[in-house]
Amino acid sequence: MLKENDYEVIWVTKTEAEGRIATGMEELDEMLGGGFLPKQCIIIAGQAGAGKTIAALQFLHANLKNGKKCLFISASDDEKSIVTHSLKFGWNLGPYVDSNKLTIVNIELMEVEHGLMSDIPQQVPKIIKGSKADIVVLDSITEFNDLCTSDMERRARLMDIRKIIKEIGATGLLTAEVGAESKKTKYGVAEYVFDGLILLSRFQSDDFSQFITIIQIIKMRWVQHSRELRAYSITNSGIVVQSPLYTLMASTGKIG
Ligand SMILES: Nc1ncnc2c1ncn2[C@@H]1O[C@H](COP(=O)(O)OP(=O)(O)OP(=O)(O)O)[C@@H](O)[C@H]1O
Ligand SMILES: [Mg+2]
Repeated sequence: MLKENDYEVIWVTKTEAEGRIATGMEELDEMLGGGFLPKQCIIIAGQAGAGKTIAALQFLHANLKNGKKCLFISASDDEKSIVTHSLKFGWNLGPYVDSNKLTIVNIELMEVEHGLMSDIPQQVPKIIKGSKADIVVLDSITEFNDLCTSDMERRARLMDIRKIIKEIGATGLLTAEVGAESKKTKYGVAEYVFDGLILLSRFQSDDFSQFITIIQIIKMRWVQHSRELRAYSITNSGIVVQSPLYTLMASTGKIG
């Protein structure tokens, strides 16, 4: 029988752990040995409604609290909506916007005579370059990728984004959609380009009584990370990653 303390412990030296970037989720930090490596670019991927935007805002808020200058680029929401929705989780972003510690940019598709048009692929690198941010969040790369016409273009443009984020000395978190029942991002390119991939997915419990939501670190370059599957819940204070014992019990339908 698995006990509360029987989970994988990731050992890193104190100095190694000190330089890490908070993910905003204590348990995920633990699974990574202290958080993300600075200047890395991480993808958080999941199906519609998996909690990607909430995870991105949680990461943003944790780093604002740690004094970092942040940039949040959203393809779906404007500044007002992001600030309002974040408040529901107890994350008050308003004062950070007012003091220029946080810049929120809404990239949009433009309506033209014969459909939709956008210069998002050209715009995003410029916004990042001019930001002087320590933390860059892009929610999501799917809209960005949808506007590219080939996988070669997608790879080149994503590599350019990664390069720019590194050049300005920032750490990046980018969200990406995966299809239902899939473990791959929509175009299957981003997971190879970026340094890390965290996957949010859904499983049915053994007794079919419920779906459990699972978080997993698929890859994290240069980091000795946990390979556990852990249940997570979306709560009024954001995403909570559960203990291995909880995950085991939820998978058998013993807790909801
Ligand atoms: N306060 C809350 N408590 C519990 N669950 C919540 C709360 N607020 C939102 N949710 C859940 O979070 C989901 C949305 O999360 P989020 O917007 O982060 O998903 P997403 O992965 O970004 O989705 P999309 O692919 O549509 O962008 C909702 O569908 C709902 O199930
Ligand atoms: Mg979202």
